[in-house]
Amino acid sequence: MKAYRAAVLRFNPEREPASAAIYEEDGLLVVGPKADGTQVVQAVGAYSDLRQQFSSVPTEHLPGRLIAPGFVDMHLHYAQTNVMGSPAAGLLPWLEKYTFPEEERFAARDYCAEAAQFFIAELLRNGVTTALAFATSHIASVDALFTAALEHRMRLITGLCLMDRHAPNKLLNRAAPDGALGATEQSLIDSEALIQKWQGRGRLGYAITPRFAPSCSDAQLRGAGELAAKYPEVWIQSHVAENADEIKWARELFPQSRSYLATYGDFGLLRPRAVYAHCLHLDATDRALLRDAGASAAICPTSNLFLGSGFFDYGAADRAGFRYGLASDVGGGTSFSPFHTMLAAYYVGGEGQSKAGMSLAPQQLWWQHTLGAGQALGLAGAHGAPSIGNLQPGCEADFVVLNPQATPLLARRTASANSLDELLFALIVLGDDRLVERTVISQKI
Ligand code: GUN
Ligand code: ZN
Repeated sequence: MKAYRAAVLRFNPEREPASAAIYEEDGLLVVGPKADGTQVVQAVGAYSDLRQQFSSVPTEHLPGRLIAPGFVDMHLHYAQTNVMGSPAAGLLPWLEKYTFPEEERFAARDYCAEAAQFFIAELLRNGVTTALAFATSHIASVDALFTAALEHRMRLITGLCLMDRHAPNKLLNRAAPDGALGATEQSLIDSEALIQKWQGRGRLGYAITPRFAPSCSDAQLRGAGELAAKYPEVWIQSHVAENADEIKWARELFPQSRSYLATYGDFGLLRPRAVYAHCLHLDATDRALLRDAGASAAICPTSNLFLGSGFFDYGAADRAGFRYGLASDVGGGTSFSPFHTMLAAYYVGGEGQSKAGMSLAPQQLWWQHTLGAGQALGLAGAHGAPSIGNLQPGCEADFVVLNPQATPLLARRTASANSLDELLFALIVLGDDRLVERTVISQKI
């Protein structure tokens, strides 16, 4: 066992997100192995209450520091690090001009390995301890990302990108080398082999990954849905309703479905552990469909602002009651930092609620990138799944040590914070990777 004495932030899952935070200014976090050897939170609370009971446990004192749950990034692309900051007139030209050419480079194993190492290191440096990420349409890209995550024991979910049409030839899924099977069938066989190879290994998970409906044939979406039914424990990740031209295209390609989102439902791709990035331009029937299916939205505010895609409607999402959490969407997104993403979510929430003159509360923003995102991934305690995004007893010991004095401005501003909300908001608005002094990943011993 090991203990950390510092300020500690965690969440009460029973409470409304805007007031879910539990904060100990002088707290103690005790971590130790559970039966399978995974490090989990054994106890947490005020130092004065716990010091006697854990007096024999080696304790690291971190004065002035804040321990908080590791961040959960619900959607990003590891092959798009080099695409960040590439401007274009909207999503489809951006894909054509920058994204597809860069993803083609992941045909080379060495290129994948180097990019995967950088990506995992960058996530950890920014305090992200769980991620649901896109790889590319190359098997080597999936293997490389899982391998890098396994090395760091990071909780990472990815999968082979399914795209059998409407992209450059080199990026489409490949037919079998002997020509016995076409690209569509082979991509589904490859996906199943990757599920068997990686799902549940260490802290890894597999996601069936149709890129978006326009890049997949009916047969590929149907096959993906069949895999999703056969393996209910694996995830599904895709994009939906991000951009006006994309939506128009998806409607032309799948006119028999009621809506773009409904297309996924019609192929069996809406269910718990299905995560759809963006979800900007939905109607009330779509939102009810997400909720009733138990599927989730990954909200990507920096990407939506950068690509001019639109604004996630928080009010409508809450009225419908489907699950959601925050995501960077690198490389459409402009930062790996959860602080930048939370700030962008604040701006977006303000846009939607401008009549009320207020946006999302600081605790709500933080919750959306930790416990809320963990719940939206189906990884926050339900049905025997591990608990992430929180530091309550029993949760996996993934956490960040933040230094609110990391820069002169942060030190000055946080010193004058008069409440927890003021402190959290100052960190959200002024914070970035410099705040993250250390990222601790739950080890198996
Ligand atoms: N829709 C299909 N592919 C992509 C992608 O790579 N990024 C974003 N933002 N949207 C997409
Ligand atoms: Zn994306």
